[in-house]
Amino acid sequence: MIVCVCKSVSDRKIRAAIAEGADTFEALQFELGIGTCCGKCEPSAREVMAQCGLCETECGVERRAPSQPMHVTFYERKAA
Ligand code: FES
Repeated sequence: MIVCVCKSVSDRKIRAAIAEGADTFEALQFELGIGTCCGKCEPSAREVMAQCGLCETECGVERRAPSQPMHVTFYERKAA
């Protein structure tokens, strides 16, 4: 799937660049040119980054503040 129409960059190219070490959006911009023309591809490119496990870096996903409690729901498994 083409992510950046302006530079003809697919999600495969983005994943390959990430596998080769590009771990920030800025690095992907430098390597592939994504988001450097109209910029409309940035959210989709960041989504690909998140799918590759880069959500804890500078991909734009919000980090939870340490003081905020995390809501956890436990489900009980019923025997058949
Ligand atoms: S679609 Fe990527 S810069 Fe325009």
